[in-house]
Amino acid sequence: METRLLTDTAEAALILRGGGLVAFPSETVYGLGGDARSDTAVARIYEAKGRPQFNPLIVHLPDAEAVARYAVLPEGFGRLAQFWPGPLTLVLPLREDAGLSPLVTAGLDSVAVRVPAHPVTRALLRDFGGPLAGPSANPSGRISPTRAAHVLDGLSGRIEAVLEGGASAVGVESTILGLVGAPVLLRPGGVPREALEAVLGPLAMGGDASAPSAPGQLLSHYAPRGRVRLNAVAGPGEVAIGFGTGGLDLSPSGDLVEAAANLFHMLREADRLAGEDGVIAVAPVPEHGLGLAINDRLRRAAAPR
Ligand code: TXA
Ligand code: MG
Repeated sequence: METRLLTDTAEAALILRGGGLVAFPSETVYGLGGDARSDTAVARIYEAKGRPQFNPLIVHLPDAEAVARYAVLPEGFGRLAQFWPGPLTLVLPLREDAGLSPLVTAGLDSVAVRVPAHPVTRALLRDFGGPLAGPSANPSGRISPTRAAHVLDGLSGRIEAVLEGGASAVGVESTILGLVGAPVLLRPGGVPREALEAVLGPLAMGGDASAPSAPGQLLSHYAPRGRVRLNAVAGPGEVAIGFGTGGLDLSPSGDLVEAAANLFHMLREADRLAGEDGVIAVAPVPEHGLGLAINDRLRRAAAPR
């Protein structure tokens, strides 16, 4: 199959309605989209990513109102919906009559939903008119894509099309908040923990790397081929990433938002420079705001495989 690069959302929506796969841009990372109601489309998403089964996918919707069609709305939903459109995913109880493929939820009785902010994604969701399943558009375990070209690097020939939307502005995946019982932070991401805690009060961190409910929770993830050293000063021949380290610069001004936007792009560049046998030395990143999400992804990139 030849993977086409599209700029027209109507054309992309037509492919999705026919059960095909279209990688779509979003403000966080590019997603690998398929109709969340179609078992075949969702099965093909798993196949294209080479993703272990039983990892549930995020369902992308055009607005907060659409969520009620698929999920039971918990108390306080309105206060969280204020983060939409944007980089927040909510895990909610699944409605019995949701009509989603059970492959999307991996048979769980909860569903992850998100309303993305990227104008191209929003236009696509309007044109498609249904729930769009979309994990990050990378082969399982590899670095998430923040450019259409990154998607083609990993999935060319395995999906029908990639919809062009430029560089992802946020650059790390959405924050995942579990709301099936007491609120729990399942994955740090584009909405800082502090912003959620301003609404909900102190949040427990959920997830357990030994029993992951989210692939972002698998310890080794976002992995370049070479070895990654954290909190490190680059030695001779090593590739440096950091703030003003003289190597790949996440943000010349030390801005964590800019650093998040550059992170996966620079990990790819470091991967290219270091190759299989090289070493990537990452300088310390402050552990607040988007630094939580950045450090989470870096720890996974450095985890032994
Ligand atoms: O920013 C993002 O979230 C991107 C864009 C494309 O929206 N998507 C993304 O998808 O990162 P993915 O599949 O790489 O990560 C989604 C995470 C997974 O780790 C999955 O396990 C978790 O959401 N998830 C989905 N449904 C869940 C559920 N019912 N309970 C717990 N975790 C769930
Ligand atoms: Mg992913």
